[in-house]
Amino acid sequence: MAKRGKWKSSLGFVLAAAGSAVGLGNIWRFPYVTGKNGGAVFLFVYILAVIFLGLVVMYAELSLGRATQKNPVGAFEKIKPGSLWKGVGFLGVFTGVGILSYYSVIAGWTLYYFYISSLGKFTGNITRTQVDKIFASFVSNPLLTIVMLFLFILLTSFVVSRGISSGIEKWTGVLMPLLFLILLVLSIYSLTLPGASRGLSFYLRPDFSKLNLRMILSAVGQAFFSLSLGMGAMITYGSYLSRDENLFASGLEVVGFDTLVAFLAGIIIFPTVFTYGLSPQAGVPLVFKTLPFTFSRLPLGRLFGPLFFFLLAIAALTSTISLVEVATSYLVDEKKMARPLAAYMVGGVAFLIGIPSALSTSSRFFSNFAFGKSFLDIMDYLWANISLPLGALLLSIFVAYVWGARNAAMEIRPDKARKFPGEDLWVIDIKFFVPIVLGIILISALLGFS
Ligand code: PFF
Repeated sequence: MAKRGKWKSSLGFVLAAAGSAVGLGNIWRFPYVTGKNGGAVFLFVYILAVIFLGLVVMYAELSLGRATQKNPVGAFEKIKPGSLWKGVGFLGVFTGVGILSYYSVIAGWTLYYFYISSLGKFTGNITRTQVDKIFASFVSNPLLTIVMLFLFILLTSFVVSRGISSGIEKWTGVLMPLLFLILLVLSIYSLTLPGASRGLSFYLRPDFSKLNLRMILSAVGQAFFSLSLGMGAMITYGSYLSRDENLFASGLEVVGFDTLVAFLAGIIIFPTVFTYGLSPQAGVPLVFKTLPFTFSRLPLGRLFGPLFFFLLAIAALTSTISLVEVATSYLVDEKKMARPLAAYMVGGVAFLIGIPSALSTSSRFFSNFAFGKSFLDIMDYLWANISLPLGALLLSIFVAYVWGARNAAMEIRPDKARKFPGEDLWVIDIKFFVPIVLGIILISALLGFS
């Protein structure tokens, strides 16, 4: 059997896992779903979901991956051979391709925004009409959006085809800290805007009377989406980890960093939204219709704009890499396919499925596909809000009851002789809280109560 890739260093792993987690989910998706779901209450539920579901499932995935040293399908098969459980792994493989298909459409938008901001389009106190026009003229061009989608997927498959440490690790390590720095600068600037206090009160002052089931489902979906959980990405990344790595600390770092980045994105977006009279409910285009205001007025914005969109594209790339990697590692491990062939094949399939999403802003048919929603909206809802929580539900049952919560806990312990901090709570959480809460949410979503 071919030797499996390994991370070169512990920091390399944390950066790669954080690279998978931090992406459009934090900067594009988080502000838009927060805005759509009423702001602060959503943030509140989101943070609870990150702590009591996300972090817990993060450990479950990483430990399963490292213990089995397998891709998601192989991991279930190794622990329970010949059973139907490997179906959960397959669900992950499909979910990865599904998410990749429309995620790369938005990633293509960031590439385009990088291009136009380099040309200096976001300068000179830009007006709302100009911002809307720039956005509309791009997204209504079917060929351009498809070409951007194609380029982005090609880039991803190229990196994945090069293998684990030479490809993924190298790309992730360098640019992430820079993105974080820019986010800090932008946050501070946003706080000085005239609409800052209204923006912050929308974002941080919860009105609990607005709480509803749909919002809870979205918050849970967003937590899994943002942390790359529920489809085996972290099983796969965990499988490239060596035995002496400290899973406990790594998991905490990845979750903490991811949540901080999302939080900052909100601090940047909402003051801007309220300052320029935009709607927090704008949905998918929110970030693309908000940030041009920031860059056109920020001192040095002419420089920060292109740099920001470049780094956002890189952050998206380190996430799409993990989406492609799940299916690729399955094809390489189980089907003995050559890595480059597998990577390009997965990319090719995602590209074809992605075309209707790319057309969701230009074709009448796809922009109002069903239930008054666009094809991209429907894909986003199905994969993120249904498939990821479902994957996480099944995974938690598997880890808690088939593999055994204590076996998993042993894997997480930095020192095998001693429980990790909060171990007993983790065991209760994965055995009862995660399956029960996810079960209730999913059943009610399916019955249409949301
Ligand atoms: N976590 C990524 C983001 O927030 O942009 C998206 C993602 C990557 C979701 C990998 C799921 C996944 F397996």
